[in-house]
Amino acid sequence: MSLTVTAATGNLGRLVVQALLDRGVPPQRIVAAVRSPEKAADLAERGIEVREADYSRPETLRAAFAGTERLLLVSSSAAGARTEQHLNVIEAAEDVPHLVYTSAAYADSVPIAMNAEHAVTEEVIRESGIPFTILRNNWYLENLTGNLGRALESGAIVGAAGEGRLSSASRADYAQAAAVVLTEGDRHLGLTYELAGDRPFTMLELAAEVSRQSGRDVAYRNLPQAQYAATLAKFGVPEVFAAMLAERDGAIARDEFVVRTGELARLIGRPATTFAEAVSAALK
Ligand SMILES: NC(=O)c1ccc[n+]([C@@H]2O[C@H](COP(=O)([O-])OP(=O)(O)OC[C@H]3O[C@@H](n4cnc5c(N)ncnc54)[C@H](OP(=O)(O)O)[C@@H]3O)[C@@H](O)[C@H]2O)c1
Repeated sequence: MSLTVTAATGNLGRLVVQALLDRGVPPQRIVAAVRSPEKAADLAERGIEVREADYSRPETLRAAFAGTERLLLVSSSAAGARTEQHLNVIEAAEDVPHLVYTSAAYADSVPIAMNAEHAVTEEVIRESGIPFTILRNNWYLENLTGNLGRALESGAIVGAAGEGRLSSASRADYAQAAAVVLTEGDRHLGLTYELAGDRPFTMLELAAEVSRQSGRDVAYRNLPQAQYAATLAKFGVPEVFAAMLAERDGAIARDEFVVRTGELARLIGRPATTFAEAVSAALK
């Protein structure tokens, strides 16, 4: 019986596969279920079985999940088409003994557009009768540190999060948590974890940390939500997505993405990566 990871060619999926290997899972027990098998040649070379699993092509999914003991459904990046894609996966996983889904923080209680598809997916999983675990991953630290070059050039991190705090953690930490659940199995059945960094921080603190570590002046420039959406669109972010990001910042401003469960650190057995560590990694 295998541990199957979907979207294993994506950033998170790759880290989950690595975390499984790091936990001593033999490569022969891992199935990388991916949209484009040709992108997974490196995984195949390491002895991992690569199968085609395109969320939009239901005919690929059942065969991809055959013999699976635990299946990690990594949420799709195709915002807007995700609900249908995830429902295809859930339908094809009806005989899987344990389905683990990477959702989003407060998917069912913070009603921003970005959470909508996760909320529906969670509901369908709960009603499906498939034994499940939900991993609600809060915002990635890498989303905040991925663009520090521009911040250093312009002297500003721009957003609409005001003085609100965010509990953010690294992709690698979320991936490790997923690997723990996949390998430990039954004790996580029926549970929904709110996963996040240990200490919430503001964008002002983030900018101050970037200044401290880089030796350059970087301020946090707060914009009204609509203006921030327009700024993102000006930089090429599709308008709908820009509006969603700005809406999310509005929720952060109201401290709606503060998570204090400690569940990520408990699952991975160590403190989560801090924003200062993420800044340091990004500046290297
Ligand atoms: N918590 C956060 O801050 C945050 C931020 C952004 C996104 N997310 C969510 O978390 C997920 C994982 O994050 P990530 O960083 O790994 O994103 P990513 O690197 O963009 O990976 C997305 C993965 O989704 C796969 N995918 C897209 N459409 C598919 C389809 N029709 N069938 C099968 N696979 C499909 C992609 O396949 P290919 O490899 O073939 O392209 C890719 O592997 C994202 O997809 C998104 O739902 C979370």
